[in-house]
Amino acid sequence: MLGPTVLGAIVAALVASMLLLQSGDEGSGAAPSMADKEALPKLREDFKMQNKSVFILGASGETGKVLLKEILGQNLFSKVTLIGRRKLTFEEEAYKNVNQEVVDFEKLDDYASAFQGHDVGFCCLGTTRSKAGAEGFVRVDRDYVLKSAELAKAGGCKHFNLLSSRGADKSSSFLYLQVKGEVEAKVEELKFDRLSVFRPGVLLCDRQESRPGEWLARKFFGSLPDSWASGYAVPVVTVVRAMLNNLVSPSSGQMELLENKAILHLGKERDVPKL
Ligand SMILES: NC(=O)c1ccc[n+]([C@@H]2O[C@H](COP(=O)([O-])OP(=O)(O)OC[C@H]3O[C@@H](n4cnc5c(N)ncnc54)[C@H](OP(=O)(O)O)[C@@H]3O)[C@@H](O)[C@H]2O)c1
Ligand SMILES: *[C@@H]1O[C@H](CO)[C@@H](O)[C@H](O)[C@H]1NC(C)=O
Repeated sequence: MLGPTVLGAIVAALVASMLLLQSGDEGSGAAPSMADKEALPKLREDFKMQNKSVFILGASGETGKVLLKEILGQNLFSKVTLIGRRKLTFEEEAYKNVNQEVVDFEKLDDYASAFQGHDVGFCCLGTTRSKAGAEGFVRVDRDYVLKSAELAKAGGCKHFNLLSSRGADKSSSFLYLQVKGEVEAKVEELKFDRLSVFRPGVLLCDRQESRPGEWLARKFFGSLPDSWASGYAVPVVTVVRAMLNNLVSPSSGQMELLENKAILHLGKERDVPKL
């Protein structure tokens, strides 16, 4: 039988996800440049020729690890650096040139050099209230993210990619959505040459650790026809491909906001190079 804690968590998560669904704000912000899918292989080749360097925050997470894999598979950058709180180990040959900077996120200013010299940055950092408490959540999802973005900007990063969430809204009364909206706005103030903000709905993936609410939501959305789920959920790999297809495409403005539907559209591409 399910214990009361687990049941409580499920109920809380379901209520939260229902609210998340209602607060989705489709279509706000600049529309991304939807590069002609046929143009992508050429765009990708042109991008590779520029020998750019990239850093990834959160490369051990569900989204970050798929992002790293896909970046290596597509061979998009001449230098790949992971910035994280611990060193990761990889078996595969494809990972052998990946650089790693281990930092203390509580003293990020001491690690400014880790953020220097990257053309592009991806931030897939995040925790949850249930893992870290309300304070810990704000510390990671707002303070760590913002400080990292500041250091990246100071270090010469031109294009910052921020993984946010559907419904992000700095005036929301929900801590999660409020923090996501606040950090988006603050990163925007840093005035990167290009800022791409991704707002996926429920991420569909096979998470190892148990998050009962997320699991239920995933079962639910996973069982819906694509057209229904399109506003609310998206497979992690689609988010990652949308990020990378957007990366190699010309920017559609200094700030690009990709809602769940735009992510599905841009990330659903069959002819990506085999991993
Ligand atoms: N899950 C969803 O349905 C959903 C939907 C919309 C948006 N999002 C957002 O998408 C982002 C990524 O989600 P995800 O599910 O891919 O994340 P995840 O699997 O939980 O991974 C989180 C990453 O952040 C790092 N991290 C967490 N706490 C940290 C701390 N205290 N100090 C340093 N690093 C820390 C983790 O590193 P360690 O491995 O070292 O812990 C990991 O690399 C999050 O911001 C999330 O809010 C999620
Ligand atoms: C990128 O690297 C390749 C191979 O090292 C080199 O031929 C090319 O000129 C470089 N391109 C730029 C823009 O630096």
